[in-house]
Amino acid sequence: MDGELAAQRQQLEPAGQAHLLRFWDELNEAERAELLGDLRGCHFAEITRFFERAMQVPAALQRRRQQQQKQIDEQMEPVPRDVQGSVTRDEGRLPEWEAEGLLRISENKVAVLLLAGGQGTRLGVSYPKGMYNVGLLSRKTLFQIQAERILKLQQLATEQFGHKCTIPWYIMTSGQTMESTETFFAKNSYFGLEEGNVIFFQQGMLPAMTFDGKAILEGKSKISMAPDGNGGLYRALRNQKIVEDMEKRGIGFIHVYCVDNILVKVADPTFIGFCVKQHADCGAKVVEKTNPTEAVGVVCKVNGLYQVVEYSEIALTTAQRRNADGRLTFNAGNICNHFFTLKFLKNIVKDYEPKLRHHVAQKKIAFIDDRGQQIKPDRPNGIKLEKFVFDIFQFSKKFVVFEVLREDEFSPLKNADSQNGKDTPTTACHALMSLHHRWVLNAGGNFVDENGTRIPAIPSLKELTDVPIKCEISALVSYAGEGLDKYVAGRDLRPPLIIDEKGVRELTANGL
Ligand code: UD1
Repeated sequence: MDGELAAQRQQLEPAGQAHLLRFWDELNEAERAELLGDLRGCHFAEITRFFERAMQVPAALQRRRQQQQKQIDEQMEPVPRDVQGSVTRDEGRLPEWEAEGLLRISENKVAVLLLAGGQGTRLGVSYPKGMYNVGLLSRKTLFQIQAERILKLQQLATEQFGHKCTIPWYIMTSGQTMESTETFFAKNSYFGLEEGNVIFFQQGMLPAMTFDGKAILEGKSKISMAPDGNGGLYRALRNQKIVEDMEKRGIGFIHVYCVDNILVKVADPTFIGFCVKQHADCGAKVVEKTNPTEAVGVVCKVNGLYQVVEYSEIALTTAQRRNADGRLTFNAGNICNHFFTLKFLKNIVKDYEPKLRHHVAQKKIAFIDDRGQQIKPDRPNGIKLEKFVFDIFQFSKKFVVFEVLREDEFSPLKNADSQNGKDTPTTACHALMSLHHRWVLNAGGNFVDENGTRIPAIPSLKELTDVPIKCEISALVSYAGEGLDKYVAGRDLRPPLIIDEKGVRELTANGL
């Protein structure tokens, strides 16, 4: 241990980080091992470079921020129509795009990549968000719902093209979510997927820093560390040879998405088919942003290059700008669903990733004072450095945007029910049940109450928390509303009900 300590001192002193060892003499063996473990994961020469590039000139930071903000806002342009596809405006072309996507799936050319390394701070749970059960009738977790959508798509492509196919599922975790995620999948037998086709890999972590670049100790033997943002993906893909694995499997197209959207159409054939048909190397799915203060980034061009301007980085005046038709000028709301060709991803990983600058988020970071007491500050006292997954849009040679309907495809789980009523377990659960309610009606089914009286197709829900008709359809039965007639056409159904492999199951009012 002494040799390693000396080596660490040699790394830390020139980098101005020697304070990390200031409680060393007070630590017991286990604590010393813990601190050395944290230090092993920190390459301070590189971290200092990241910090300096992200902060540029710290003394002039505030002034520069305002200048940068003004510059970004002045250079922002909405996404031009000619790179956009839309499920409403292009309804007639959807079957063609879907067929293209399914064909590529059947050829084993499509992989999905889940970003699941986040900390879920706003939701306030200590386990990975994908393990969350939002309160569906089936009590399924987000991971299970996504796994079943993959299984169903494999089945649909297999049936249509007459040979077995696989959609490999790459799952990015972080130091904080890796072990529990892997254990959860193993315990649940990979939800019916083949173990070898679920590939876990881990993103990097970075220390939280004070405004002048000192890494923060949250305990005497513990550095405050956080994942390096979902744009840490590209470095992780390189370090863990994931691109090579994709190449070996013959993958051509990758759908990247975030864990928290209960309506996510994993490996959506229509989105993939649209991007492939446009010869795009990179694409983003969006929903129309209608509220200027909604916490979604907007896809746009800045200085001629495609980019997402994040909700934390856009000025309110810009977010509020409207066109003559009354719609927001910047209305391409990012739902964190991206398409990449493998060729594009390879170039990013090889050449472009190191050019990306970290974003700076000011945070309240618990720290240890000189007396060894932990302090929880009530205002931001430091920063976290993060790269964003969409920072690489600027390198695309052919970028496209696909607009989908919010009620069909976007209901993220961000906050706890106790918080503000938006993007909570309750809203996520209701969004899924409302979608499935519509699927049943569109397939010719009807809902009746306990007296057998028809329930109107549009129930009167006034509050976010009003309960919609309780109806849940397993993804193993239907991926996007298809194939339901044989279960529901012409039938009067009494909620709560589940439609799954066992058929239509009307439940008692108390659940299962
Ligand atoms: C994200 C998007 C935002 C979009 C919104 C839609 C980014 C940077 N921002 O914002 O533009 O409008 O979703 O819901 O993509 N994650 C990691 N590693 C990390 C951090 C996050 O894998 O270090 C994953 C999370 O597990 C999650 C996804 O990235 O699956 C999005 O992260 P989150 O922090 O929830 O992003 P938002 O701020 O909501």
